[in-house]
Amino acid sequence: MEKLVIEGGMPLRGNIPVSGSKNAALPILFAAILLDGPVLYHNVPRLRDIATTNAMLRTLGCPADFTDASGNSVTVAPGALRNEAPYDLVRTMRASVLVLGPLLARLGEARVALPGGCAIGARPVEQHLKALEKLGAVFTLDSGYIIGRCAKLRGTDISFDFPTVGGTENLIMAAVLAEGETILRNAAREPEIGDLAAFLNSCGAKISGQGSDVIHIQGVTSLRGGAYRIMPDRIEAGTFLLAAAITGGECSIEGCPVEELTALMAKMGEMGVSLEPHDTGVNVRRSGILRGVDMSTRPYPGFPTDLQAQIMALMTLAEGTSTVEERIFENRFMHVPELSRLGADIKLSGSRAVIRGVKHLTGAPVMASDIRASASLVIAGLAARGKTQIRRIYHLDRGYERLEKKLAQAGARIFRAEDNR
Ligand code: EPU
Repeated sequence: MEKLVIEGGMPLRGNIPVSGSKNAALPILFAAILLDGPVLYHNVPRLRDIATTNAMLRTLGCPADFTDASGNSVTVAPGALRNEAPYDLVRTMRASVLVLGPLLARLGEARVALPGGCAIGARPVEQHLKALEKLGAVFTLDSGYIIGRCAKLRGTDISFDFPTVGGTENLIMAAVLAEGETILRNAAREPEIGDLAAFLNSCGAKISGQGSDVIHIQGVTSLRGGAYRIMPDRIEAGTFLLAAAITGGECSIEGCPVEELTALMAKMGEMGVSLEPHDTGVNVRRSGILRGVDMSTRPYPGFPTDLQAQIMALMTLAEGTSTVEERIFENRFMHVPELSRLGADIKLSGSRAVIRGVKHLTGAPVMASDIRASASLVIAGLAARGKTQIRRIYHLDRGYERLEKKLAQAGARIFRAEDNR
């Protein structure tokens, strides 16, 4: 096992590059199942979740891998499809449930292990199943597997009970090859869904309305392969904006997707951080004190739950009181006790956290619990006095590409070490 060691107190300076989006790449790679030809993806982040996705695609019969040992291109070729997504892969990445739509569309049959709970909540998938049933699929549960069967899927009018990112993506992938038109109402509006739709349209699909809450999909009979560049990772970019701000540094976050981070940037502005978009990214600078703010997570374009833990790290040093309300996941506060170990003053009550700013944080050994909680601990560690050691960083490696290298290049004292305990 490995750990991260951070000696806090160094202001970040210089350029930090943003990688391709994990949460766009996952469904877009799985969408290769729908294609008749090979596809070459660019700007794919080298992450554990991508390795899991490639392994899943191979298990399903589609050869998939990075084209070389260090680059960011992945090829996926069509193959003789198999219908089973095994538990061993699904349990390491619950986004594997995204193969359900494509497999039903291609094979009329899918056996996908139930993802089960995870650190940030129960995360059920009933919205995916209810909507796929409307397209004509029938589901049973057997030995921990969801078994779906259908004749040809038929387009229809579907309304989600609430916006779900994965549910919207699964339905888009099922509906692109369905007969006739599918309308998805109350659909999620996250930019990653727009990227999936743009990819599928580049392969011959007819999807419109993505980015709004009503998406229209006119089914086609086949989709071709091609080449596609994955969008930048807005959550990684936001994490860097917050990291630079907490250290009182001055950085350019290169490739930062400004339009997709307006909720975060508005809050950071309120807190006293200066943010200036420019041609290739965003300059972030903080010289004065930080001010406490209130915020609650919401579906896009609201404040993303995937940046809640990271902004809370910044709030721990903001003057006065800040509040955070988590409205997307019921249990996404695993970082709170760990931030408290660094000296933060946070009180939790249900889905609400009240953070009273402290003068400084102090380094300590802490434990990562999910991808974004790990990032929050890194941000806090960069500002803490003394040494912070973060254990269980395999969570971080699921979602951040070369995080410690990128931060070290901007002047952070951060390195990876063997954890023999
Ligand atoms: N939900 C249900 N039933 C469903 C589907 C969702 O109750 O059938 C609930 C979930 O439990 C959750 C809420 O609805 O409480 C929103 O879930 P959603 O389906 O929108 O999330 P997701 O598709 O499972 C994606 C991201 C998450 C991100 C959320 C919200 C991927 C691979 N994952 O998850 O990313 O937090 O949307 O924006 O795109 C991360 O990257 O660290 C991460 C967790």
